[in-house]
Amino acid sequence: MNPYGNLNMERTPPFKLILLAFLVCGVAQAQTPLPIPDTLSGSVIDLTMQEATWEFHPGEVVNSYGYNGSLLGPTLILNQGQAVTLNVTNTMPDLTTTHWHGLHVSAANDGGPHSLIYPNTTWSPSFTVLDRASTFWYHPHGHGLTDFQVSMGLAGMIIVRDAQEAALDLPRAYGVDDIPLVLQTKAIVGGQIMLHTGLDSVVVVNGVRNAWKELPAQVVRLRCLNGSSERAMRLGFSNNMPFHVIGTDGGLLAAPVPLTRLQLMPGERVELLLDLGGMQGQAMQLMAYNSELPDDIIGAAEVGNGMATLDGYDDNALNGADFALVSFTVGAPLANGTFQLPTALVPVNAIPELDADVTRTFLVEPQFMSPMEMIEGPFTINGALMDMDSINVVVPLGSTEIWSFTNNTMVGHPIHIHDIQFNILDRNGAAPEPWETGWKDVVFVPAQGSARVITRFEDFADPDMPYMYHCHLLMHEDEGMMGQFLVVDPTSMGEALNPVRPVVWPNPSSTEHLVVSLPIGDGPAELRLYDALGRVAYAGRTAFTAGKARVDLPPLADGAYQLRIADQRGTPYAAHIVLQH
Ligand code: C2O
Ligand code: CU
Ligand code: CU
Repeated sequence: MNPYGNLNMERTPPFKLILLAFLVCGVAQAQTPLPIPDTLSGSVIDLTMQEATWEFHPGEVVNSYGYNGSLLGPTLILNQGQAVTLNVTNTMPDLTTTHWHGLHVSAANDGGPHSLIYPNTTWSPSFTVLDRASTFWYHPHGHGLTDFQVSMGLAGMIIVRDAQEAALDLPRAYGVDDIPLVLQTKAIVGGQIMLHTGLDSVVVVNGVRNAWKELPAQVVRLRCLNGSSERAMRLGFSNNMPFHVIGTDGGLLAAPVPLTRLQLMPGERVELLLDLGGMQGQAMQLMAYNSELPDDIIGAAEVGNGMATLDGYDDNALNGADFALVSFTVGAPLANGTFQLPTALVPVNAIPELDADVTRTFLVEPQFMSPMEMIEGPFTINGALMDMDSINVVVPLGSTEIWSFTNNTMVGHPIHIHDIQFNILDRNGAAPEPWETGWKDVVFVPAQGSARVITRFEDFADPDMPYMYHCHLLMHEDEGMMGQFLVVDPTSMGEALNPVRPVVWPNPSSTEHLVVSLPIGDGPAELRLYDALGRVAYAGRTAFTAGKARVDLPPLADGAYQLRIADQRGTPYAAHIVLQH
């Protein structure tokens, strides 16, 4: 059996190039051709989550999981505007889910922890692709199961294409000058993949160690995903050549941002351009310069600064070390390749801070305050651990919101929000880095620091099925550093409203004593009052007599409310009222 499953192996590099790579890097290990995952596209995509085996080290067979293969999964290529049905079959013995990380889909199609796929069943979400051209990914998301299943190998990339991106002169020959790079570190202990150990000392790209790839001597595009459970990566090239960031989690930037270093947290993606024009015959490595990571980020030299440190942290040779991710040699350019770096990309139209309807605050703290738990967790958000049965936030459909995260722990967290893409307003009160000014779905919140993002909750409302927000360090997520939000449509709440409108007097009202008339004769009725954020401000009952009822509300803040009335038969009616004292 081909141990590389669905990953296409390229022919072995010519001996001269291997030798060259050895000389340049001084590495004494054999290089492995970088596997390029197969692609799947079209309106029906079948994915099978399966058990398999894999050899990270030749001759050492470990158990693994993969989508349609032994490890990782095919790259899904989707076009904006197309309809797609994904049939995800679970042939593993575990419960699982599959989440389309970054895609703007309804909560029921999102694949969060509520969309369980039982063994030997198929889950078939179906949706229209609304996203901008970008690099997304998919992975399991069962509550408490994510780290294990991702570590075992379940993850794949999603490339969305759109007309704006297609109009630009960018490399897009998949696997040739447009290269998917799933960057991961794995813990392999006692011949098996382990999780929650911090012993992730095996560096793999697209599933293999010491990966090597020939790139054409022209402009090439690297789609980088940090798919590690916990480890940050400060990307750079061994020859210190500049790279140009053209896209982040949810779309292209307005213009390329030239850099020599970029900190990529777990869950984040960046698209980079590398100008290799005229460099045929040269070699370089994509590196993680993690000796340069600031402290208190997992992967840095130190987490915890003296008081306490993570158990076994200092034993992992990768912590605080510079290491190679993938080696490149430069071959002949493509005849129809890209030879010029673009100067402009796609307008971002970031959401202005003044557009926000509301600011919500999220405080991250250890569940128990001790020096050890300040770095190790479990961590809570606004005092709560993830509870599948409780909704932490209710967002009204159409709302523009600032979500402000404050990190009162000693470790940095990459915070991810489902459903939407956001713009980062600031981090520790300062503007985000230039490469972070586009569309993002993960924001790095430094230890003892803060970050604010702004977004709009559009298109999808569901009164029952929540979306998640959480830390993308998978151990933190699994241990409960996650919350659930509903997006609700305050004008429908998912029910068919009776078109007859109750008449409320006075309205606007300066008192809490209202008279409601509604042609329902005599009998009891249920009342609910929703505020502008879709929260229930009042719930109670009243009795109608000849179609009239008096309602005595508790003292409430000024503002717009929706009054919902259900008569004896449960028929729902709604009216808008304004309280103005
Ligand atoms: Cu990449 Cu909620 O996940
Ligand atoms: Cu996600
Ligand atoms: Cu975290």
